[in-house]
Amino acid sequence: MKATAKAHTNIALIKYWGKREEKIILPTNNSLSLTLDGFYTTTTVDFQEELSADIFTLNDQSISGVQYDQVTKFLDLIRKSAGKDNLFAHVKSINEVPTAAGFASSASGFAALAAAGSKAIGLGLSDQELSRLTRQGSGSACRSVYGGFAEWEMGKKADGSDSYAVPIAPADHWDVRVAAVVLTAKMKKVSSREGMKRTVDTSAFYSGWLDGIPQDLKQLKEGIKHRDFEKVGQTAEANCLKMHATTLGANPPFTYWLDTTMAVMQTVQAMRANGILAYFTIDAGPNVKVLYLPENEKSVEKTLRDIPGVTDVRLSKPGQGITYL
Ligand code: ADP
Ligand code: DP6
Ligand code: CO
Repeated sequence: MKATAKAHTNIALIKYWGKREEKIILPTNNSLSLTLDGFYTTTTVDFQEELSADIFTLNDQSISGVQYDQVTKFLDLIRKSAGKDNLFAHVKSINEVPTAAGFASSASGFAALAAAGSKAIGLGLSDQELSRLTRQGSGSACRSVYGGFAEWEMGKKADGSDSYAVPIAPADHWDVRVAAVVLTAKMKKVSSREGMKRTVDTSAFYSGWLDGIPQDLKQLKEGIKHRDFEKVGQTAEANCLKMHATTLGANPPFTYWLDTTMAVMQTVQAMRANGILAYFTIDAGPNVKVLYLPENEKSVEKTLRDIPGVTDVRLSKPGQGITYL
């Protein structure tokens, strides 16, 4: 009863930013992402009759506290589906991505856990069922079931049965590149979960955020379909700025940005003024992802590395969905 799965992170071009239901994770809006081959998690789940509790190691460190609780709660869902409530597992996970720093470790982490866990216990899920299960670990993770571009359909039902990701275009549809600009790999002070909750509950700008989603989604999908880089870039950058604006209207207000985050954003806009098409997007953290096309890779990488405060630049292509090892 052992299985190993690999899942990549994804970068949201239209952000998921708010829940209408917290326990089973139902979002307030559809979101759309690109899966990245450069960042991933590999997780082995080994259910053993002789265990009396789950064991979780992340990057060879034994984990307890909130991170452990999230994993055991998620395994409870898998145990329940399989009718094996008293079967515990040894979970061994390796993140090839900084944990909790705004690089979407929760996306690759829970996608790999859902895939390995459900396979180990013998559930035999379809992609849609796997995405629905994965969603309940971390919302953004439901999109990492698929490679390339994927949309999380928020659904309407209270039981969450119609809330899962669907593939929009595979990784080989379009070679859009993403440079992850590392400013700090430190764990963020406000988790995605806490940040979006505070924003939904208190932000003066939250309704404005929701109002713009249908138009952003429409434009982004047209852009992806026609491989229109300007359209995709402009839409993603604007959507990111609107999401981050909501945090400033929250109570207490907060921001994920550092001064160096702004420096990267300004450099990207300056690159465009100089004729190099590049756009930025930022998840819940200070680090910036820059979208560009392969022909500009050398100049984009050099320009980003030269910004004071940038500690690393990691280049990524579109990545594949879940694989089993
Ligand atoms: P991020 O930007 O990295 O997604 P989040 O605040 O959304 O940050 O989520 C980080 C949390 O995701 C971690 O604190 C941990 O609870 C969980 N997580 C990260 N990696 C894994 C993993 N490989 N397996 C299980 N849970 C993970
Ligand atoms: C800003 O999926 O990490 O990266 O569902 O509470 O685990 P939980 O949150 P998470 O939120 C991601 C927020 C985001 C945007 C996105 O990835 O769509
Ligand atoms: Co996350």
